[in-house]
Amino acid sequence: MTTIIEPFKIKSVEPIHFTTKEQREKILRAAAYNPFLIHADDVLIDLLTDSGTSAMSSAQWAGIMIGDESYAGSKSFFHFEKTIQDITGMPIVIPAHQGRAAEKILFTVVGGKGKYIVSNTLFDTTRANIEFSGAEGIDLLCKEGKLPSIPAPFKGNVDTAALERFIEEKGAENIPLCMVTVTNNSGGGQPVSMENIRQVKSICTKYGIPLFIDACRFAENCYFIKLREKGYADKSIPEIASELFSYADGCTMSAKKDAFANIGGFIALRNEELAVQCRNLLIITEGFPTYGGLAGRDLEAIAIGLKEVMEEPYLQYRIRSIQYLTEKLMKANVPVMQPAGGHAVYIDAKAMLPHIPVEQYPGQALVAALYIEGGVRGVEIGSLMFGKHDETGNLIPAVMELVRLAIPRRVYTQSHIDYVAEVIIEVYENRKKIKGLQIEYEAPIS
Ligand code: F0G
Repeated sequence: MTTIIEPFKIKSVEPIHFTTKEQREKILRAAAYNPFLIHADDVLIDLLTDSGTSAMSSAQWAGIMIGDESYAGSKSFFHFEKTIQDITGMPIVIPAHQGRAAEKILFTVVGGKGKYIVSNTLFDTTRANIEFSGAEGIDLLCKEGKLPSIPAPFKGNVDTAALERFIEEKGAENIPLCMVTVTNNSGGGQPVSMENIRQVKSICTKYGIPLFIDACRFAENCYFIKLREKGYADKSIPEIASELFSYADGCTMSAKKDAFANIGGFIALRNEELAVQCRNLLIITEGFPTYGGLAGRDLEAIAIGLKEVMEEPYLQYRIRSIQYLTEKLMKANVPVMQPAGGHAVYIDAKAMLPHIPVEQYPGQALVAALYIEGGVRGVEIGSLMFGKHDETGNLIPAVMELVRLAIPRRVYTQSHIDYVAEVIIEVYENRKKIKGLQIEYEAPIS
């Protein structure tokens, strides 16, 4: 077989900026070792997120020019609406300016004190919106999903036995919905199988609980189903997506991921009563229901992106490029989450830096080392992001201490990725010199 190549050529380029190691040491110190506080111009390869960082296609840029900016009834809204209806089979489409805005609206309506939202793993903004409403977010990830070094095809699956036990214990009336994140971002970008979705749906139906999908990376998840699940090899991505969404009562999506857009999101629903409540909130927070905080041009770009993302040459290249980096790291013995996820490589910082206790945030220490070594910016997904403190101030650590290197869509070439691998391997070889970190200041949550 020939090399799987980027299924596009480059029309417009953007320079990246080189700095020296000494400069980066200063920059990081000035940013208090927080990669979010580094100016993007001081980053060489930015793997902080795959969100809003995609390269848009020439068709999307053309769409930007034909975007209809009418306040009500924009032509671009109807293009956006029809595209989402066709993919999801859901009749109601409510635009929002990004994923968390959609979550805020949904959980303000269905959340509240004494309620539980169950999931495989909630993304941090999703969890925060649930908790802000007074409800509790519950992650019920399958066992293999919590073991970074054990490969399994669908490590994003919900632990269905735990789900049923939880519903029995807390009572279905206290669970306004179950939300499955595809792919499971906070758990390594791992996919959820169709079989698992079907089982979750059947449990939800038994107890009368609506099933929602966090669809940020639905196309990547569908491609994994095609590759790994029996019976799907000959199905197209739109067919697989259509089945996936057929089990759901609704979904939220950040269009900043699998829609190749720089901004945007939506809620899609089947229930008109819920839609009325969501739209009422939408109007006072996001905007009129035919734009929801977005410009007409954004709606157009999202509609086009949602169709492009389901093209198989793209998905083949996308999944392969993540695998390529993962394999290079594995060959050098760097401990990574296995198998490769859909949008990012996850380094197991706990395994790589056993000399740094979780109280000194090994993930964050590794993020700092990668930046200093090669100007590569990643993000900690561990106890800094998800850890809590007990009444005596002791850290309750996260399940895993990961560093995520998220690959923006259609942005970096293979030599950029080769460079990233070299930087990580260099850091790995000198890992014993890396020191832990402590928190000096944390903003209070009101
Ligand atoms: N759900 C998932 C699974 C996500 O990954 C994100 C964002 C959101 C919801 C929220 O969407 O950013 O448009 O408000 N994830 C980004 C990331 C920020 O870096 O993984 P948003």
